Amino acid sequence: MLEQSYYDEADKIIAAYGTEPRFLIPIIQDIQSEYKYLPPELLRYVADKLNITEAKAYSVATFYENFSFDAKGKFILKVCDGTACHVRKSMDILNQLYKELGLSKEKHTTDDMMFTLETVSCLGACGLAPVMTVNDVVHPAMTPEKVTALIAELKEGANE
Ligand code: FES
Repeated sequence: MLEQSYYDEADKIIAAYGTEPRFLIPIIQDIQSEYKYLPPELLRYVADKLNITEAKAYSVATFYENFSFDAKGKFILKVCDGTACHVRKSMDILNQLYKELGLSKEKHTTDDMMFTLETVSCLGACGLAPVMTVNDVVHPAMTPEKVTALIAELKEGANE
């Protein structure tokens, strides 16, 4: 069950666009950027307000890959595994993060909702390979040692 504040926020966003079905995508984009994911309950809620079926809204949202139905952690870590990064051992970076955070290919977010780990195919910073980002801030020339230091730093910062 989502808190009422989520529905209030959705109402605000819907009011800014209007309730025509063509506004579905911008509305759910705004919801996703507010919460870093698209809560399925809100997709249903928006569909209802825009008078479109839940199935249709769901098929639109799943067609566009950048919508995520899973809640994400406070820190979103993206490890690049494009060619330039891969040849510079990006897999070592990823494996170190799996180890540090207790995550895996199947489990992307820590139970305390602090970290979400994703892989991407190019972050557009190939000259700095291997690259990862933390909430879109680029960390260049990563090594497993740097990963350990970075995670410790993020955990420490979060506890302050
Ligand atoms: S391949 Fe990693 S940034 Fe381009």
